[in-house]
Amino acid sequence: MKVSAPGKLMLFGEHAVVYGHPCIVTAVNSRLTVSVEKSNTVEFHTPGTNNHEFLQEAVRYATERWNISSVTIDVSSSFTGKYGFGSSAAVTVATMKAITDLFSIPLSRHELFQHCYQIVLNVQKIGSGFDLAASLFGGTIYYEQFGKIIEPVEHPGYELVIGYTGEKANTVSIVEEIAQKKEQYPEKVERIFSAITDLVHNARKKIEEGDVERVGKLMDYNQEYLRDLGVSSEKLEALIQAAKKTGALGAKLSGAGRGDCMIALVSKEKRRQVEQAIVNAGGEVLSVSPDAEGVL
Ligand code: MEV
Repeated sequence: MKVSAPGKLMLFGEHAVVYGHPCIVTAVNSRLTVSVEKSNTVEFHTPGTNNHEFLQEAVRYATERWNISSVTIDVSSSFTGKYGFGSSAAVTVATMKAITDLFSIPLSRHELFQHCYQIVLNVQKIGSGFDLAASLFGGTIYYEQFGKIIEPVEHPGYELVIGYTGEKANTVSIVEEIAQKKEQYPEKVERIFSAITDLVHNARKKIEEGDVERVGKLMDYNQEYLRDLGVSSEKLEALIQAAKKTGALGAKLSGAGRGDCMIALVSKEKRRQVEQAIVNAGGEVLSVSPDAEGVL
């Protein structure tokens, strides 16, 4: 049984989503493939991933829950954990989908989501689960309340340029830091999260309408809130400013911050210029596109 799952890029709403607020995320066309076969012993062949904990927990969870026999698992991936595309979510989703298909366990995508979310929480305790939803459902999605609401965002299309900073973000430690800040300055952080929530609702509408000018502006505002939260970095700012100066409609960090990637919304005409500006500012342009299909 061979299954592949896409990575993701956060468009709007990171950090606030950890507290049940909404976000908008898109699946990207970098995929991770898992092959599963029935066997007498549990075996992993994983040259394509470093997400062993998630893989092992998925197998432990599935074998215990559905009382199934042992499996041999092969993983290969067109992306690494390096860029922050959500390889742990993709490996969890692909493994669970492959195992449940192999043993003919009928599950809806929403049910599969609940199992995958439990696995992720068993391993890393925190996380909003939005990356699992992107990997499972694909496309561009609106995500809220830890997966209670997962809805497709239909739209006429948008162009993104993705710039990698070369710095690795440590999502878990940044999320913990924001939790501490929230304890210390509850009103300030709540105010930022509530502003981000309004912005996400607005962004959903504007993406659906194809109003890219406005979507770009909202990206800039979202970046201001993330700056206020203290999760931007010099390198992210350099790439964001370079993109803006050469005509990007908007630009922001994507994910936990302090590294990984920034995204810029561009017109087709400005794409090359913005890409070159990001490279000149010391970034690496990644050729991935949004709206990939979910797990298949
Ligand atoms: C990280 O990609 C996004 C965060 O919102 C964490 C999460 O939602 O689990 C910072």
